[in-house]
Amino acid sequence: MPTLLELTSQGDVGTITDESKLPTIELMGPEQLYQLWERQNWQSHAIDFTQDKLDWAGLDEELRQSLAWNLSSFFIGEERVTTQFSGLVMAYESQSEEAFLTTQQVDEARHAQHFNRFYEQVLGMDGTFEDRLAQARNDLNPAFIEMFDGVLVDSGQRLIENPRDIEAKVDFVVLYHMIIEGTLALTGQWFLTEYMERRGILPGWVEGFKLISKDEHRHVAYGTWFLREKARDSALRQRMIERLAELIPMASGVLVPPGADPQNYEILDYSMEETNSFAFNALGRRLKVIGIDMASLAAAAA
Ligand SMILES: [Fe+2]
Ligand SMILES: [Fe+2]
Repeated sequence: MPTLLELTSQGDVGTITDESKLPTIELMGPEQLYQLWERQNWQSHAIDFTQDKLDWAGLDEELRQSLAWNLSSFFIGEERVTTQFSGLVMAYESQSEEAFLTTQQVDEARHAQHFNRFYEQVLGMDGTFEDRLAQARNDLNPAFIEMFDGVLVDSGQRLIENPRDIEAKVDFVVLYHMIIEGTLALTGQWFLTEYMERRGILPGWVEGFKLISKDEHRHVAYGTWFLREKARDSALRQRMIERLAELIPMASGVLVPPGADPQNYEILDYSMEETNSFAFNALGRRLKVIGIDMASLAAAAA
């Protein structure tokens, strides 16, 4: 069972004022998160990939392929979450929320820029940004396509059609901030960064990924704040539970490398149990802060 201290060390929840009462955790709201964005700004084009090029050339082919699958999921993922975010910006409910959401969209564009530079300079893929995205798409699995080209696009479209639709906004944040960012992206980032640092390879990529991870924690903090506000309404809280019950099996599928046994696979040298428990424990901690217990989630999934 994670401690409350571990929960704060995730970096996307605020100060705990009373350890015996989870609902008293003070979350950062959009205004504070916007100010944090100003302090944490960085430049993807300033990252030096000289050593990464040498490291990549020295890796064996099997490892390169395994890394390519992981990296492609992030490259395409960052492109998708940039272009499919506009509906949420339109759905702002205060000036501070509008300010924060615009920063999140530009963050996602910066993350895609980082991967585009890496694919061009380190993997040596010539052509245009679009050519590199098309090439990276060959590595994706069907669950990824269903989530990022299907559910995410549909959810964004519902918000664009009616930005005042609060149910559509809740659905979007559950998918985007809780599942895609909080469960999948932060897990992949943690394991990949740990792997590269342990092996002492790809320093430019690691530098960028750590900065991306800091941005993602800020994004997930917004999602946690927003959903906790809306979960005060029991009908919306129930809606969140139902969406999560639908999306969690799909998220498990996104983590499976192409062609691998979904019940028994490894990502780099980490077991399925390690990556799954990291992903879903992190989700469980955030849901607790929002006011959703795992028992009601299990009941909805049954
Ligand atoms: Fe991102
Ligand atoms: Fe993000």
